[in-house]
Amino acid sequence: KLGKKVVVTGVPGVGKTTVINGAMERLAAEGVTYTPVNFGTFMFEVAKKENLVSDRDEMRKLAKDVQKRLQQAAASGIAAVSADANVIIDTHSSVKTPTGFLAGLPEWVLRELMPDIVVLVETDPDQILMRRLGDASRTRDMEGSRAIAEHQEFNRAVSAAYAMYTGCTIKIVRNENFLLEQGIDDLVSVLR
Ligand code: AP5
Repeated sequence: KLGKKVVVTGVPGVGKTTVINGAMERLAAEGVTYTPVNFGTFMFEVAKKENLVSDRDEMRKLAKDVQKRLQQAAASGIAAVSADANVIIDTHSSVKTPTGFLAGLPEWVLRELMPDIVVLVETDPDQILMRRLGDASRTRDMEGSRAIAEHQEFNRAVSAAYAMYTGCTIKIVRNENFLLEQGIDDLVSVLR
């Protein structure tokens, strides 16, 4: 199989996109190229066309079956554009919905993507809470550090199922305050 498929996950506001961008920049300097793909953007394009939502933070509140359909559309859209390239997919191990955690990579998504590695970007829940409060561009769920800690725990648990289904490895990357460069180093080491 040509091309590496790396899925990068983490709770909202942990800094997935920031770490991915840093890693891509570093790898580009070494001549290693990855195509970044945002799973939520693929879902949002479909959701917008169907007038289901006006911003991406509304998607996790949609009826479960609608979210599943958008998820399926995103997975096949991403599989179609990724082919033999190295791809980094920015997404979620689980999505917090009003009726509970929804798996981000259920069987029908894994079958399309077949990741080599699933990365979990994590940090202390208090830091995530502060980052969310500092980002006015998004509509964040109002939750405390305890709930954020539980979400991170659930993400580890559900990722074990992804490893069982695909044989992928699970890599935990810490993205701590003042230690972004170290998080980027860790991600680069699995992408290289
Ligand atoms: P998406 O857009 O991926 O939502 P998100 O997780 O909320 O993404 P963010 O970009 O807000 O968070 P981030 O972790 O990337 O943090 P960032 O780098 O911006 O997904 C949108 C929606 O799509 C989901 O809600 C869901 O509905 C749907 N979806 C996606 N995938 C799905 C799937 N598989 N199945 C079903 N639905 C799916 O950083 C945040 C802030 O922290 C920034 O201000 C940044 O400057 C700061 N920061 C970062 N690192 C550090 C550091 N080390 N120190 C200090 N500050 C830092």
